[in-house]
Amino acid sequence: MFPTGFVWGAATSAYQIEGSISADGRGTSIWDTFCRQDGRIVGGDHAEVAIDHYNRYAEDVRLMADLGLTAYRFSVSWPRIQPLGSGAHNTKGLDFYKRLVDELLSYGIDPWLTLYHWDLPQALEDAGGWPARDTSKRFADFAALVHAELGDRVRNWSTVNEPWCAAFLGYASGEHAPGRREPAAAIRAAHHLNLAHGLAARAMRAQNADSQIGGCVNLYAISPATGSEGDADAARRIDGLQNRFFLDALLKGEYPEDVLKDLGAVTDLGFIEDGDLATIAAPLDMLLINYYSRFTVSGAPGGAQSASAAPTDSGSPWVGSEHVGFVNGGRPVTGMGWEIDGSGLREVLDRLVADYPRLPLYISENGAAFDDVVAEDGTVHDPERAAYIDTHLRVCHDAIEAGIPLRGYFAWSLMDNFEWAWGYGKRFGLVYVDYETQIRTMKSSALWYADAIRHGGLLGPAE
Ligand code: FCB
Repeated sequence: MFPTGFVWGAATSAYQIEGSISADGRGTSIWDTFCRQDGRIVGGDHAEVAIDHYNRYAEDVRLMADLGLTAYRFSVSWPRIQPLGSGAHNTKGLDFYKRLVDELLSYGIDPWLTLYHWDLPQALEDAGGWPARDTSKRFADFAALVHAELGDRVRNWSTVNEPWCAAFLGYASGEHAPGRREPAAAIRAAHHLNLAHGLAARAMRAQNADSQIGGCVNLYAISPATGSEGDADAARRIDGLQNRFFLDALLKGEYPEDVLKDLGAVTDLGFIEDGDLATIAAPLDMLLINYYSRFTVSGAPGGAQSASAAPTDSGSPWVGSEHVGFVNGGRPVTGMGWEIDGSGLREVLDRLVADYPRLPLYISENGAAFDDVVAEDGTVHDPERAAYIDTHLRVCHDAIEAGIPLRGYFAWSLMDNFEWAWGYGKRFGLVYVDYETQIRTMKSSALWYADAIRHGGLLGPAE
């Protein structure tokens, strides 16, 4: 049994579900542009329709209510609200989120709003994108605008979803929009995403001290492949880039010295201005953690590439540590090739408690893609997905028993959707979506999760 008040949620993001990319005055985002370029997305998929959530949001909220979710984490599309990324808001775009939030509240589902889940207005990319400092200021203005309009009905806010991905997949490996492969620019982007977070948190706090404000990071457990010095160094480097560069900045107001040293060969870091780190470390009410897997890394030259590497032609996201190899840790994998490791989640939580100021923690994403099969009777039986969630929820439960301030869990994802460079081939949903008809069907994992929520705990191993 989980404590009373434990948040039982599911998550999505705007670009992955909404579609209607030209409706009601929405501007162009970097993902619209990226999807139109050859070879960027598996199968040439795009999100012009996605799962049509923009038109079907009421039906989707109904599904959430049927599941018994107590909270729903979603993101707002910046170009829907500010088509060019600055200036006056587009009323019709903003009204969509007011309708969505009101619908959620009418069922007693708590809206958890993420301000940025990767769909930067193209106009801001044209002006330099995240490597340009001004983008952080534009984001703070955007945050203030959305918070002023929705802060009366949304209590839980997070700023940037997974700044690591936005910076290093967007600007170093080029696997994500805008698809640039400029390692030095990626480091600037990472700093400006952190700065954007801090400026936005401060702007929202100034408007309403009651809002609960958090940052959202994707953390990995990381192991060296062997006991060798080279592998230990590889683990230190990847942990530094993936985890500590963001955690130390947000929660301690500093960048880790060893990471700055590793990056020194790529850039002089002159873009980090006095006072930036104090801004980035704006006080937070909570930390949102996206957890999926563990990396096992090797410092040996020519180490094998990760099974989770990009599906499309791309460079390395590991700026300054490109030599590190990602090796098979020998665990069962999901449909993404990501190793399933609940113990890694516990490691991540333990380290947060040991090394950082104590904050309420939430698992804001956790879940798995598998190749779902629709049976003749129309049902989808996906015991592997339920088992994945069950495993991680058990870890959450034990962590809470051990005194870790973990307050909630959001499954990724509520519904199958546009999985970025992988297109529609990878299904993460609790709810199956037929992309031709847009019909939604709860998978057996959804029914299992609904039971757990109703019960307030886990009923035994998932089937
Ligand atoms: C996370 C993203 C989310 C989804 C899952 C599978 O990195 O935040 O949008 O793609 O991975």
